[in-house]
Amino acid sequence: MKPQRENWSTKLGVVLAVAGSAVGLGNFLRFPAKVTLNGGGAFMIPYFVALLLLGIPLMWTEWALGRFGGAHGHGTAPGILHKVTRRPYASFFGIFALVGPFLILTYYTYIESWTLAYAWFAFSGQLLEDATQDGMKKFLAVYQGITSGESPGLSSAYIFFVITFIINMTIVHRGIQGGIEKFNKIAMPLLVLLATFLMIRVLSLGTPDPSQPELSINNALGFIWNADLNALSSAKVWLEAAGQVFFTLGVGIGVILTYASYTKKDDDVVLSGLVASSTNEFCEVILGGSIVIPAAFVFFGAAGAVAIAEGGLFNMSFVSMPLIFAKLPFGSFFCGLWFLLLFVAAVTSVVSLLQPGIAFLCDELKLSRGKAVSIIGLILFICCQPLIFFIGRGVIDEIDFWGGTFFLVIFALIEVVAFMWVFGGERAWNEINRGAYIKLPRVFYVILKYVTPVYILILLVSWSWQQLGPVLRMEGVPEENKIYLWGVRVFVVALLVVACALIARMNRRMPPLGEDYET
Ligand code: ALA
Repeated sequence: MKPQRENWSTKLGVVLAVAGSAVGLGNFLRFPAKVTLNGGGAFMIPYFVALLLLGIPLMWTEWALGRFGGAHGHGTAPGILHKVTRRPYASFFGIFALVGPFLILTYYTYIESWTLAYAWFAFSGQLLEDATQDGMKKFLAVYQGITSGESPGLSSAYIFFVITFIINMTIVHRGIQGGIEKFNKIAMPLLVLLATFLMIRVLSLGTPDPSQPELSINNALGFIWNADLNALSSAKVWLEAAGQVFFTLGVGIGVILTYASYTKKDDDVVLSGLVASSTNEFCEVILGGSIVIPAAFVFFGAAGAVAIAEGGLFNMSFVSMPLIFAKLPFGSFFCGLWFLLLFVAAVTSVVSLLQPGIAFLCDELKLSRGKAVSIIGLILFICCQPLIFFIGRGVIDEIDFWGGTFFLVIFALIEVVAFMWVFGGERAWNEINRGAYIKLPRVFYVILKYVTPVYILILLVSWSWQQLGPVLRMEGVPEENKIYLWGVRVFVVALLVVACALIARMNRRMPPLGEDYET
């Protein structure tokens, strides 16, 4: 008899959990920076094309694969690929969806803890004491332990990291229904409320400096929404837009597979996947796009906003947003709300990133949830340490390159090929549509089978052509930092080796082909 797996208690619960997994720092921090750096409106057409041809089809693929795997007792990519392809060696391709989320967690958890700390510093009034650009940059650098100064330093950062870590682990320890589902049912409405409130505040800024009438909210919205057709010929913009769609929806990471594996055998996946994606897009394009970018535009202008984003992905959020709030009445309060919003968004994503590792240990190695959470928690805690202490050495960017960019695209290709080509197009189509409240239009069959894999292949080839070489050679990296980046690479390889050994162990425990293979 198959052991009883956990499941979601309500349909709303799973949709909110998947949406919560998708809505994260990517929506409020990464998206505004990417739009600003890639010419505002120029970015949006490639972004929506990637959403339609990659993001949403992959979302359905992962929901259907996850539900299929869950019905057979497997909630992570190795077990699901084994079942779906009927080839034991295929489970090794699932390695990217085990190691990827873990790698993302190492830096995401630490940044998540900054948002909690900044919310605290903002509400207490400490953050906006020296509200100048240099003051804000220094505050961040002191906090990260990169320089010394009067403001809270690395010891505070460490305390907030530990508090954040405990919050995350407590939620996942309580399980799917009692922890993740319950938390998302509260966190998601709160998040939308906070973001809507801040959006209204920003959109009502009008023209803050009447002597500069061009810096108005109307022009700021034009910066995002006036499409620049000339930019469509830039390969970089297409790559960046697709990368953002992957990251924000969380497709290719492996988390949606796992969440979907806790649905019931005939639960709808089409509408649920669509609602989860639409919620994420609402939070990203409407809410995320209407807070940071217009605020930065009306206070610093288009060129100023670009300069801030060029200074680093975190600058817009951790440096320029406090400066903007400092110019408003009740600035500390609004600034606190902004960081609270980021924190809530980050927690809902982090708990989803933790789940694949936990599910693997529970499903495949038959550990209890408590043991699995303790093991993953302990290993993650240890792996976060070098990152906290060597942050100034570029280690976050290096980990993000492997876990948050490269593995994600590779795994997306693997899963769509496994499902549409190895499992079989028609079977996959029926699997997606089983139990669906709305049947998918047939055009998506063609998209899933041909367009999505070819699109990903083109992305991979052009991206490797343009960026892989310089990244592998560490071009532009200061000599003294290279040793740290090599350290990251050794760490990534070590994780891959450990994951391979665990998958081999899983394969040995799987029933022989032919038994227990009904679909
Ligand atoms: N999808 C998550 C985010 O956008 C990882 O932050």
